[in-house]
Amino acid sequence: MSRHSPALTVMIAAARKAARGLQRDFGEVENLQVSLKGPGDFVSNADRKAEKILFEELSKARPGYGFLMEESGTVEGPDKSHRWIIDPLDGTTNFLHGIPMFAISIGLERDGQIVAALVYNPVTDEMFVAEKGGGAFLNDRRIRVASRRDLAQSVVCCGIPHLGRPGHRGFLTELSAVMNEVSGVRRTGSAALDLAYVAAGRFDAYWEAALSAWDIAAGILLVREAGGFVSDIDGSDRMLTTGNIIAGNDQLRSQLEKLLKKARREG
Ligand code: IPD
Ligand code: CA
Ligand code: CA
Repeated sequence: MSRHSPALTVMIAAARKAARGLQRDFGEVENLQVSLKGPGDFVSNADRKAEKILFEELSKARPGYGFLMEESGTVEGPDKSHRWIIDPLDGTTNFLHGIPMFAISIGLERDGQIVAALVYNPVTDEMFVAEKGGGAFLNDRRIRVASRRDLAQSVVCCGIPHLGRPGHRGFLTELSAVMNEVSGVRRTGSAALDLAYVAAGRFDAYWEAALSAWDIAAGILLVREAGGFVSDIDGSDRMLTTGNIIAGNDQLRSQLEKLLKKARREG
């Protein structure tokens, strides 16, 4: 752990503390009080409790930094150059269904750039971290994106819009284009873990539309520091604003971009 910067050390400590509550609540998932936020989009007490711990711990360690959080929104700080971007529980639907595929996601933005990233799955105890220029790690082991260059041998992960979300038809057009070219398509239900898995070479590539900054801020840095490439589906660098994302190694990302653009044109 010693090679981590003080900022990353603070993030790891905060995530481990928040994770203890998530682990307890996951164990009692059946008894959890759940309130309806919107169709198909539940927010549990667990989200809010975890976010509160992350907010308290990070504020204590770095007074003045701003926050962008899924549950509480924006909290401005006097330090305008630093901001934490947090999803306290990415994969809520999995969590509520007892599926052990969810994560805490924390990105640290400095002057508009993500400089430190953490994605932590408390059930598998897998801690993915990265710092700008310092590489990406899974539980202290260096990770790299997969080196496959051929879509036909690749496992590609995606997000599927659900009830109450836009883009159902567009997604089906994209899926039918992609599934004809690849060895397998997967959908996990956690965008943060999807990107972490691309960084670790488990998935060869990933695409999804209509995400929020907190779903992907940390994952983007993980993929880049693992030697991968990330862009918007139009090829630009505006993923945090548009919420559309393609990730993979250089070759696969650009092949996927071409395929998705063609599908969009023809769909
Ligand atoms: C969701 C997950 C999911 C993605 C959704 C997100 P949440 O976040 O990342 O994989 O497809 O679009 O909203 O609601 O579980 O934090
Ligand atoms: Ca999320
Ligand atoms: Ca969430």
